[in-house]
Amino acid sequence: MTDLRVRKLRFGFADYPVPFVWNATDPAFSCAANMLSFLFLAVEKMINATVHEAMPLITDQAIAEEALAFVRQEGQHSMAHRQHVKGLIKAYPALQKILDDMMAVYDDLTANESVKYRLAYVADLEATFTPTFTMMLNNADTLFAPGDDRVASLFLWHFVEEIEHRSSALMIYDAVVGDPWYRMRLAPAVFQHTGMAIDRAVCGFNERLTLEERRVDATSMYGSPYLKTMLAQRFPVLRKTRLFDVADNGPVEKIYPHVPVREQASAALGVMRSQLPGHDPAKHKLPALAAEWLERYEAGYDVTRWYTADTQSPDG
Ligand SMILES: [Fe+2]
Ligand SMILES: [Fe+2]
Repeated sequence: MTDLRVRKLRFGFADYPVPFVWNATDPAFSCAANMLSFLFLAVEKMINATVHEAMPLITDQAIAEEALAFVRQEGQHSMAHRQHVKGLIKAYPALQKILDDMMAVYDDLTANESVKYRLAYVADLEATFTPTFTMMLNNADTLFAPGDDRVASLFLWHFVEEIEHRSSALMIYDAVVGDPWYRMRLAPAVFQHTGMAIDRAVCGFNERLTLEERRVDATSMYGSPYLKTMLAQRFPVLRKTRLFDVADNGPVEKIYPHVPVREQASAALGVMRSQLPGHDPAKHKLPALAAEWLERYEAGYDVTRWYTADTQSPDG
């Protein structure tokens, strides 16, 4: 029997306008999290289709149950990110194009790649979430607490459940494909594909929003153009060379300015390790905030307003 719980949460994105820079103290992280909402929405639709396609191939009843609970959790995430994205598009209609692009990228993957390829893709990607989201949860006081509570609470919930179902994608992959070397060999292609989708989203933010709306170059945290732009901004003389003749989309911010370098390095190492054969996500220690979140949820706390539920009445 699976331990996964399917929690249906909604975050009030239709109640009042959704700001693009939802954490005013960290516009680069705001851009990055917004990008993740667009990306997750599309990726989780692909996961849903892929796992349902693989279901008839899963003969072990316990794994079939886990797979079903896993896609149900992902389905809830996708729905909640859709509400966030809808709120963003309502406030910034030009962002509709980003949603269309993301959906097209992953619909195309679903239509043109084999189930084996997609199961490996999902297992590779999901394996990176536990180390990176652990780092983010451990630094929630700077990344989430100062922000719009709807966006912050959406990401806290999603990250907690990603860590909760950290073994699911690998379990499904092992049951259906079972070749750890194929998964590892595929990793560079998977990250190249995800990187391409991320570049499209963050470059789209730069193109479609004014600097006043996004406050920073949206490629600051993710997206391959940021390194070139950052170097060109630090050393203007480089702009005279064709290689560094890059558009100025505003300031390129430092990644995770408040997160200790040691924690960033440990997350990066965790991502690398997660791709190796024999990797067992179950061994990962649950971050303190994830344990607290699960406990509070069980106690009936309003986790959709994680930082403000204690200070506001349910009516506002
Ligand atoms: Fe998810
Ligand atoms: Fe997931």
